[in-house]
Amino acid sequence: MKILGIETSCDDTSAAIVNEKFHIYSNIISSQKIHNKFGGVVPELASREHIRGILPIVKLALSAAKLDLSEIDAIAVSVRPGLIGSLLVGVSFAKSLAYCLEKPLISVNHILGHICANFLEHRDIEFPFISLIVSGGHTELVKFQDIDNFEILGRTVDDAAGEAFDKIGKILNLPFPGGPEIDRIAKMGDKNSIKFPLPMINKPNYDFSFSGLKTAAALYIQKNNLNLNSRKIYDFAASFQHAIVKVLFKKTIKAIQENGIKTFLLAGGVAANSKLRNIFENYSNEHNLKVFFPTKKLCTDNAAMIAAAGIFKYQKKQFADLKLNASSQKGL
Ligand code: KG4
Ligand code: ZN
Repeated sequence: MKILGIETSCDDTSAAIVNEKFHIYSNIISSQKIHNKFGGVVPELASREHIRGILPIVKLALSAAKLDLSEIDAIAVSVRPGLIGSLLVGVSFAKSLAYCLEKPLISVNHILGHICANFLEHRDIEFPFISLIVSGGHTELVKFQDIDNFEILGRTVDDAAGEAFDKIGKILNLPFPGGPEIDRIAKMGDKNSIKFPLPMINKPNYDFSFSGLKTAAALYIQKNNLNLNSRKIYDFAASFQHAIVKVLFKKTIKAIQENGIKTFLLAGGVAANSKLRNIFENYSNEHNLKVFFPTKKLCTDNAAMIAAAGIFKYQKKQFADLKLNASSQKGL
């Protein structure tokens, strides 16, 4: 069984083919460069780039997989959350293709896709598990009893973790997105040099908040006239990153312990962060917790993760009809 995955929720046009054993035949990702000069994604430009890109990218995914369209069993597409115009391109394309080929159409929540990226590389994941999804638009802590039986334990009440990285990156004039850049320069700094607030770290719930931390970091930049040539930039990056990682880690571990969970899945673009990966890996080595995260390439937006989520739905015969519509509604 082979599923064609389609992902166009933000600024990456991607198509992939994955089978029921989660083997990736191909995973083509085209990241739109047009937004670089604006320091952030321009939604209308993103939709237009997806329209230009979708057909060649799907063709590339098929040729890289050495497969013909007739060998595809179903089409899975990101339906929400994301930029509505961008999502619509993928959804319309997937619906047309499913109709023409008379193949099942599968609607995939993009956040679930991020979680399922883990199944592409790890064969020993067992339910129940807790997953922390940290991306440009989401920070969610979710307990899964099964793939379609889950409970949201907590989420950000304002900015997402990735958003905080990107906004501070933008103030510093770092290339977009700021997350990987801050990760890179933080390696040369001292994480204990600047004491940033650790929002909601001791609150009894599992919610997060990053907008106060972002403001504190922005004020620090302003007060200290910090720029990319300042010597202090490395310490700043390390300290700012440390504050985000510490809050994410502490609240996640609290949820894992209080729910008696033995398996944890990190997911989303910020799961590529080296400090975040390290802190969970070190914890797992010292405690009875199985920790999984995808390789860095599969952390950020890609269609293989959408196809992976599609496999679960295909097996449960959860198909969509041609009334399927995109939506920007947040969350799982
Ligand atoms: O999941 P994703 O590709 O897109 C969304 O669904 O939002 O996540 C993109 C986010 C951006 O905010 C980006 O800065 C962040 O992931 N990111 C990172 C790293 N790599 C990507 N943040 C921190 N450290 C990284 N290494
Ligand atoms: Zn994403």
